[in-house]
Amino acid sequence: MDIDELLKRYAYPDRTPWLRANMIATLDGGIQYKGDTGALGYPGDHALMAALRGLADVVVMGAATVREYDSWPDDAPPLAIVSRSLDLDLDGGLFDGGRTIVITCGSASADRLERARERADVLVAGEASSDIGAALDELARRGHQRLLCEGGPTLLAQVAAAGWLHDLCLTLSPMIIAGGASRILNGPDLDVPRRMRLMHAIPDGDYLFTRYTVE
Ligand SMILES: NC(=O)c1ccc[n+]([C@@H]2O[C@H](COP(=O)([O-])OP(=O)(O)OC[C@H]3O[C@@H](n4cnc5c(N)ncnc54)[C@H](OP(=O)(O)O)[C@@H]3O)[C@@H](O)[C@H]2O)c1
Repeated sequence: MDIDELLKRYAYPDRTPWLRANMIATLDGGIQYKGDTGALGYPGDHALMAALRGLADVVVMGAATVREYDSWPDDAPPLAIVSRSLDLDLDGGLFDGGRTIVITCGSASADRLERARERADVLVAGEASSDIGAALDELARRGHQRLLCEGGPTLLAQVAAAGWLHDLCLTLSPMIIAGGASRILNGPDLDVPRRMRLMHAIPDGDYLFTRYTVE
């Protein structure tokens, strides 16, 4: 399937705000092999990631995942980084262009908060840690109605717990890895299991692009 055809299958619905997560996992449910998520992917998965970014108004990511990036494409929507520590390379390429959003909480260090405000649009939600539901509400209020979350699992579990996981794009990587890798959500049990509806399952060689949405 070519990329234009693929994009039709991933159009955001009229119902907004709408948060989509895009993740990749192995056949046995792991999100990385020996700490390396790249080991699971292939060029088709990277193309899908870029295409999904192109459909979104903002990309939300946990700081641990962000720390694996040193730049952000100009043609991608702004990056919103969730971080309590604010241990971020504020002089690095992720903050060039002044579009980056930092979501943090009241317990963040005052010095780092001040520095972050010089380099990013800072959103404080919650005290000891960020209230992810409140932060996403605020992003939507600011016009980011079509949200894309690229993990990691710690953040995604909180997104789901807050009732914000509307759409899960899960690429199944044709590998088994065993070990102790996280699943795509890593957090406490949800109050109730959330059932989702299969929108499509598109094979690409041995990989499978699935999309599930809330009912
Ligand atoms: N297979 C896949 O599709 C996929 C996708 C994404 C990531 N990954 C992998 O997942 C790993 C990282 O995932 P992870 O679960 O360890 O971390 P993560 O979710 O990317 O980030 C966790 C960090 O986000 C911040 N954070 C999360 N919730 C917060 C809250 N409520 N308030 C304030 N800050 C909060 C904290 O940052 P501070 O430490 O700065 O306070 C926390 O340490 C990486 O190895 C990455 O490669 C895999």
